[in-house]
This record gives sequence, structure tokens and C-alpha cells, in this order.
Amino acid sequence: MTEWLQCIECGTRFDILEVRYTCSCGNLLSVERDGIVDRDAFDDRRTSRAPIDQSGVWRFREGVLNVDRAITHPEGATRLYERMGLLFKHEGENPTGSFKDRGMTVAVTQAVRVGARAVACASTGNTSASLAAYAAQAGLRAIVFVPAGKVASGKLAQTLAYGATVLQIRGDFDAAMRLVREACDRLGIYLVNSINPFRIEGQKTIVWELLQDLDWSAPDWIVVPAGNLGNTSAFGKALREAHAHGWIARMPRLASIQAHGANPFYRSFTESFGTRHRIAAETVASAIRIGDPVSHDKAVAAIRDTNGVVEEVTDAEILAAKRTIDGLGIGCEPASAATLAGVTKLKAAGVMREDERIVCVLTGNILKDPEANYRAENVVEIDASIEAVERVLA
Ligand code: F0G
Repeated sequence: MTEWLQCIECGTRFDILEVRYTCSCGNLLSVERDGIVDRDAFDDRRTSRAPIDQSGVWRFREGVLNVDRAITHPEGATRLYERMGLLFKHEGENPTGSFKDRGMTVAVTQAVRVGARAVACASTGNTSASLAAYAAQAGLRAIVFVPAGKVASGKLAQTLAYGATVLQIRGDFDAAMRLVREACDRLGIYLVNSINPFRIEGQKTIVWELLQDLDWSAPDWIVVPAGNLGNTSAFGKALREAHAHGWIARMPRLASIQAHGANPFYRSFTESFGTRHRIAAETVASAIRIGDPVSHDKAVAAIRDTNGVVEEVTDAEILAAKRTIDGLGIGCEPASAATLAGVTKLKAAGVMREDERIVCVLTGNILKDPEANYRAENVVEIDASIEAVERVLA
């Protein structure tokens, strides 16, 4: 099997080992390969003890990346919960607590393969935590660009603990993103944001694994929160390929959910993608506080190819949905709860039906954003006496 990089717009091909993130024409690149992949081996690997097979990413390696050595924890192999008539694929169960590990194992593997010594990303926190962990494992220097004061404390703590250098940018995520691209170009650092097509190859396995969890019977909908649009893009590619390889008989529809205050993709969708919007973003869901998503063009294809929809939800709807998911004993960070908020809204609008099978992808762990979890009304300070306990619980 041969693999190469290909421009999504003009089709120009580049060697798989070339370090580049966009085509000479300025458009995004994707990893492409020839041949048809059979899914039988994937099911056998579920019972294997080899770390490479236990990884929910490398279990699908024929469709991810052809390498001799992978930098793997292993990651993936997350659970699919059935609650309230919905399915929840909990990507917060990954090694660093978010779905980012699925893309990062592939991007850092590729970084080692091309001889990089330093890796960098811009991040709202989860990508940086994941990068820091995988770079530490690979022995690479990690540099992360984050919006100063805008990253949830759990994510920042992880990033620092794993030893990354943290550049706190006086500006928003979009400014950090522009700056890291320039810095990587100028300083020869390997860039691992989802503009890097190897990230997308890893993140496809969220969808492949959930299809495998369902014995390859496609659900009606797959719902995902949308920020920089890497995941939406990856899900579209995963579904196109799963269908082309004959792993599933029909395409599920994608629903990408944005926060109302960070909704450039939703705005484009309502105009049939005629215009690409760039906005100043603000939302309680700090993970998706992004106004100029880099993977816009790939995400448009993902929505079109799956007959998908883009929806927006308010911060109040996100927080209410988070309480519901936390109350199920599963829990997630605010951005992940946008999925359930989106489903509620799309059902009310009649876009989704009660009898349809819907999978929500919970992207981040409940401990990522501790401040968002604090419920003052449940906390009571008392004297250390049994009388005080009885009084409070009466
Ligand atoms: N959910 C969580 C928990 C995230 O951390 C992110 C993105 C998203 C959803 C949105 O995914 O960008 O692929 O559309 N976090 C990035 C980061 C931006 O830096 O951690 P997307």
C-alpha cells in the first residue's frame, strides 16, 4: 500500500515524508492511500495483548498510517455508554483525558519519522496536554502557544507536568494559532495542530471504533462539538472511507455543534457555506472558544458528504446539558456537553427523531475544567460533631 499527501482542492500530490501542512496553492492537505482495507483484522485485534493492537488508533493501522514504530500509550479503546436512549462515546477516557490523544499518537509518530526535534501547537488546553505527554514519551521538546488566562486549570497543569514550554500569548486562540504557524515555519519546529493531516488520520478512529462498538451497523447520527473543526473533518473522512471500503452499508449523518458565541461554522452553514466567517469568539466552553477554524474547508466537505447539519447552542444550554451528563455519573467538560444540548435542540426542531440512533461524542474528561464543576449549593461546612451532621441532613 502506498501513502501520500494530497491537496484537497487541486489534487497535487507530495511525498508522505515531506514536512508541509498546506499545498503551494494554499489549500489544506490530506493523507491518501491506495487499495481497499478489509475490516476482519480489526475485530481479531480487540482480544490481542500487543499494545499496538490494544490502541484504539493503531488497531486500525492499515487505514491510519503505515509505520514500523508508533509512539503509543496505547490510547483509544474508550467506552460507549447507553443512557437516556442515547449513546455516548466517552473520549475523555483517553490517557490525557481527551480525544486529542488519538490524533497526537499519529502526529508525534510522524514527527519522529521525519526527524523532528521539537514539536509545537496552539491550544485551548487539551491539544497542549496531549502534545506534552506524547512529546515526553518520544523525547522531543514540546512548545505550546496558549491564550493567556483562558485555559482551564486541569489542562494547564497537565501540560506543565509533562514538561512542555508554555508560551502564554496576549491574545485569543486564533492569534496563538497564527503565531505558532509562523514560528514553526521560521524556526523549523514540527507543527501538530489539526492543520497537520496526520492528526486527522488518528482522529478518524473515534468514528471507526464506535462503528466497531456497534458491530458495524451505522447509527443514524454522530454528534460532535466543533471548534477548530479538526474532528468534524476527521469524522467526514472516516465515514467516506468506511463506506468506500465496504465496512458500513450506509452513511450516518454528522451534526456539528458550536457555542453561540463561537459560531463561525454555524453562520457559514446557514448561508449554504457561501461565505467563510471569522469572528471574535466568547463562550463558557473554553475548549471551543475559536473564531477562525483552520479546518473549515475539510469540515464543509464532511457536512456535505454526510448530509449533515451544523447547530449552535447557548452557554446556558451547554451548562444545563453538562449537569445532565454529570448527573448520569459519566461527566464531561463543558465543550463536550454541547453535543447533548445540540441533540435536544435538533429533536425539538424535528431534525432528529425519537426513534433514531444517535451517538454523542464526549470529547473531554470531567476533571479538565475543575472550576466548571464546583456546585456551591452542595457544599456545607460544619463543626466536627454528630449533632451538626444530624442538623444538616435533617
Ligand atoms: N471538545 C474539546 C474538549 C476540545 O478540546 C476541542 C478542541 C473540541 C471539542 C473541538 O474540536 O477543534 O476538532 O473542532 N480543542 C482544541 C485544543 C482546540 O486546543 O485543545 P475541534
